[in-house]
Amino acid sequence: MNRPGWLGAPNPRVLDGSLLVGVGFVLATGIVSLYSGRPSRAWVFVTHGVGGLVLAGLIGLKLRRVRPRLRGVRHSAVVVLSVILTAVTAAALGSGVAWVFGADLDLGPWGLLNLHIGLGLAVALLLGGHLVSRFRLPSRKDFEGRRTALRYGAAVVAGAAVYRLQGTVNGALETAGADRRFTGSKPTGSDDGNAFPVTSWVADDPDPVDVDAWTLSVDGAVAEPLELDYAALADDDERRAVLDCTSGWYSEHDWRGVTIGSLLEAADVDDDAAWVSFRSVTGYRWSLPLAEAREALLASRVDGERLSHGHGFPLRLVAPGRRGFQWVKWVEAVRVTRRRDHAERLAIFLSGL
Ligand code: HEM
Repeated sequence: MNRPGWLGAPNPRVLDGSLLVGVGFVLATGIVSLYSGRPSRAWVFVTHGVGGLVLAGLIGLKLRRVRPRLRGVRHSAVVVLSVILTAVTAAALGSGVAWVFGADLDLGPWGLLNLHIGLGLAVALLLGGHLVSRFRLPSRKDFEGRRTALRYGAAVVAGAAVYRLQGTVNGALETAGADRRFTGSKPTGSDDGNAFPVTSWVADDPDPVDVDAWTLSVDGAVAEPLELDYAALADDDERRAVLDCTSGWYSEHDWRGVTIGSLLEAADVDDDAAWVSFRSVTGYRWSLPLAEAREALLASRVDGERLSHGHGFPLRLVAPGRRGFQWVKWVEAVRVTRRRDHAERLAIFLSGL
């Protein structure tokens, strides 16, 4: 029997179903957040945070329900898995909230936000295992009509209120989390040349590029393929842009180099071209739609300094509004294509290995 609380305790099967939806939601918004760098995507981060806080409340209700079953009995593998799932979910929630309040960890190349993401992905795996043995779909009569809708409506309102309050408290306490960007990233090294963190996605760690042996090729769906050496590259185009890394920091700079638009004009792009792919000397690659690529820059300088090796010398893609892992470093090839290169999503995990 459930103890009646405020608006009554939720039906167990509906509660389990909503935990599943809740975890699915924060996981989905978490993953989409990794690809979101424009202010128009701020809602992804807001709904992720509110969703996470609602989930924390639902987990509290679930723990209250199962607590008697965890005491004194011999624990089966299913119960042990459930306990691990609860602990990892609590750690994912806790690390998210700690990040928001300015906490960080030094985990070598990673920080607290990366730990949060890893825990989030672990939650998804453990939840899959848990569901195989435990999950029963709620039936229509489990929903108790308006009462269930009211209860969950109230939970979302409460989550949104806590989210809002948390922002106010964070600002008042002036924590290190108070000046986060809408992406959750914290400021570092803006307008200070190469003095911002060097991070690379997975295994990219090439030797410094020898510019005497290096060239930039521009080919694919173009009438006039180009092969340019370092001295032949123009470097008088400028962009002011924010580099926002998914490991939780951002840095704003004046980048200088050559616009992709001018390279594409010189190469005479085919009429049916639609995408432009940028490949690094490590094999790492990412692409942008043609119109966006024209506005992007291949930078060789940052705030007047020559780009350092760690930041991608001789050329790094500067793609305003994109996350840092999409700003390909050590670019050696620009390829114009008719279709998007979907294999790039895999290539970024394998390059440099
Ligand atoms: C791929 C997985 C995930 C990614 C990329 C991700 C990303 C993020 C980011 C960037 C923030 C900071 C937002 C900000 O500073 O405003 C955050 C916060 C948070 N995340 Fe995640 N997350 C993921 C998975 C999860 C999961 C599975 C949970 C829940 C189990 C979760 C719960 C939270 C919570 C509670 C917060 C704090 C919200 C707040 O207090 O305002 N996240 N997450």
